[in-house]
Amino acid sequence: MGKAQLGVSTLGRRLSDHQRAVYLEELVALAFDTAQMTVDSIADLMHQATARHSRGELEDALRMYARVLAQDPEHPEALHLTGVVAHQQGRNEEAVALIARAITSRPRAPAYRNNLGMALTALGRTAQAEGAYQEALALVPNFADALLNLGNLRAAQGSFQDAVRLLERAIAADADSPQAHYNLGCARFALDDLRGALGALQKAMVLGADFAEAHYRTGSVHTALGEPEQAIACFHQALAREGDQLGAQHGLLECLDMLPPDVAPPLLEALIAALLRAKAINPRALGHPAARLLERKHGLGGEDVAASSLQALCASLLDDALARLYLRRTVNVSTPMERLLTRCRRRWLADAANSVAMAQSYWDGVAAVAIQCFFNEFVWAVSREEERSIADLEQRIVGACRSVRSPEAARLSDLLVYACYRPLWRIADAAQLRALAVDAWPDALARVLRVSLHEPLWEQDAKAAIDSGVAIRDAVSRAGQMQYEENPYPRWQALTSAGAQSIEQRVQRWNSRYAAPPELTGPLRVLVAGCGTGMDAIDMALHLRDAQVTAIDLSSASLAYAMRKAGEYGLENIHFRQQDILEFDGAGESYHVINCTGVLHHMQDPAVGLQRLVRMLMPDGLIRLALYSRLARGPLLEVREVIRARGFDSTERDIRKFRQQVFDEGAGGAFVELMGSTDFFSLSECRDLLFHVQETQFTVAGIDKLLEAAGLEFLGFELTIDEVGKGFRREHPHAALTDLDAWAAYEQQHPKSFRAMYQFWCRKSVPINHPRQHAQHLVE
Ligand SMILES: C[S@@+](CC[C@H](N)C(=O)[O-])C[C@H]1O[C@@H](n2cnc3c(N)ncnc32)[C@H](O)[C@@H]1O
Repeated sequence: MGKAQLGVSTLGRRLSDHQRAVYLEELVALAFDTAQMTVDSIADLMHQATARHSRGELEDALRMYARVLAQDPEHPEALHLTGVVAHQQGRNEEAVALIARAITSRPRAPAYRNNLGMALTALGRTAQAEGAYQEALALVPNFADALLNLGNLRAAQGSFQDAVRLLERAIAADADSPQAHYNLGCARFALDDLRGALGALQKAMVLGADFAEAHYRTGSVHTALGEPEQAIACFHQALAREGDQLGAQHGLLECLDMLPPDVAPPLLEALIAALLRAKAINPRALGHPAARLLERKHGLGGEDVAASSLQALCASLLDDALARLYLRRTVNVSTPMERLLTRCRRRWLADAANSVAMAQSYWDGVAAVAIQCFFNEFVWAVSREEERSIADLEQRIVGACRSVRSPEAARLSDLLVYACYRPLWRIADAAQLRALAVDAWPDALARVLRVSLHEPLWEQDAKAAIDSGVAIRDAVSRAGQMQYEENPYPRWQALTSAGAQSIEQRVQRWNSRYAAPPELTGPLRVLVAGCGTGMDAIDMALHLRDAQVTAIDLSSASLAYAMRKAGEYGLENIHFRQQDILEFDGAGESYHVINCTGVLHHMQDPAVGLQRLVRMLMPDGLIRLALYSRLARGPLLEVREVIRARGFDSTERDIRKFRQQVFDEGAGGAFVELMGSTDFFSLSECRDLLFHVQETQFTVAGIDKLLEAAGLEFLGFELTIDEVGKGFRREHPHAALTDLDAWAAYEQQHPKSFRAMYQFWCRKSVPINHPRQHAQHLVE
């Protein structure tokens, strides 16, 4: 990370002795030049202009430099600094031209060459940029800024050894630059020199008190060193400052999973709450850390709570703001908490049935449980007695609404309790409830109404407007459609943002040698096939610059959910269509990028589905696939056998019953793993995981064959589990990350490696008779 070097000490930077000498030389030269002119006006103007420039008043400075240039069109410093402003304003071509002109008059000004290098770097003309930095260093070998910039350039090129050498020299020339220490820390980190990185980053933190990135990187180094407690403290410091919040949030997420279950640093609670609230983090990722913390805090353990302490425990849990936030934001993954709250809910229902009024102080907690139950699609156990009481309660609510023609007549606490068992939008008089002015209600209730009534009713309306295309004829497609109409998957709240990215950057993250052809560097046509509830489609529409996204799925309910979420993100560049991949012809389009996550393995013949998609992909286009791994799913396949043997069907009632059996027997065998999986805790995910109408699992060798038959070139797995990438490199040091034979061997040794599916990128190979326009996309 470099900064524009303005070149005169009057700009307010604190300069080292060495830099001062460099600039003094320039100032003397400048003074000599201007002596020929109307000295007062030019020197005065330059003085004022540079003062404004250093204060960031770029437009004013520009105007003054222009006045100097009007008098002396080749005034080197005015040309140079006009170029610096152009660079600061992102007009780098202009900057290069201006600074190059200044250099013609003053070839021995090192700062000019350094700033020229920066403008060239910004234009991606790295070879020329390097030349400019080298020229600056030839003039002044210890020019700290040029050393820093050249070091950064080397790091960006992946030459970290070189970067470290240059940055160490930059620090020797100017020991007080937090940026240089920070960049040195990052380069050492990249070389796995973790202790060295820590030393440099600690220096950067001392020198730059508000340097959020330095704290966040230090946190990442502690994570890599297996020191989650220290890491958490650093991420906390980073989040308390302005800067890369996203990086700090991601870093924090990663290290939370490393904390031993019995360790709870004092900051943990506040940090988990901040992440649960964060807009750019999917709260599902917080499930286990938050659940562990709450279980510990409230003493929720394996044993069932005695009836006498049930109320007190429930009250203390729901009185806890973190517990309520957790229940409102993410699907609960704590078995003890589910057991406790299922029993409390039963008690609330019995009270409602007996017209025992619920204290208003409980409303917030009960509302959080109602929202939780909506999100987990009412997967918790319900007894026959409860079924009867719910039916009675619904009658009472409907009757109250009808008799006085005012929904307020229904007791608010009845509505809350009912919402813990059923979605409000399905209630007989939902239209009456809908007319309520939510804003006038207590917050807790208004939230429940929004989630359980307004949003789903919006989705019902949206379904009617969905652009339905070709009939769905394939029998497996129809069965899949029915499943996802009943249980759209997955119900999600917020995306974990990767920030704005090009498609090249996305692929490069997993294959550093990938270079996108020119067709893939402009606006992209993207197809998301089997988009479900829209996570990937929305992510791509949000973060891929200028993308136009077409998102198709069999299920109108899933599409409606996706449309609502797209609206929340204010997106207008996604078009949703109800379509079967097997029938879709791309609407006359061919796509630059196709995403098909978790879909092909639910088709009768995944190869046929894939061929259809590849037909719609441009030559050299990219496809991202995600497929089940047979090895990773081994234990789940055993569970599916148990389900079949016990005769459970994929109905909501059977899924609930089966879950209860897992809870009762879960201490051993195949069920243990299931209870650790987040998917077990909501109905649609549990159905998708264990009760799917159609499922194929893959092996790495099978994927190899599948891709070859489809004319796809494998570009690399997304290695979202850090340890998998590291382990592969350790055990197969000479294999490329694209070597599928090596991956097959690795997975045999580590069968859980692809528990989050095989997620990978491919490129459509160009047919032999298709002239390749771009010689080197993947440089081997
Ligand atoms: C497991 S979900 C995955 C959803 C989404 N891709 C994601 O990762 O969140 C599978 C989705 O694929 C859709 N699907 C399955 N077969 C399909 C087909 N032949 N054509 C279009 N969509 C299909 C289903 O309707 C369902 O929404």
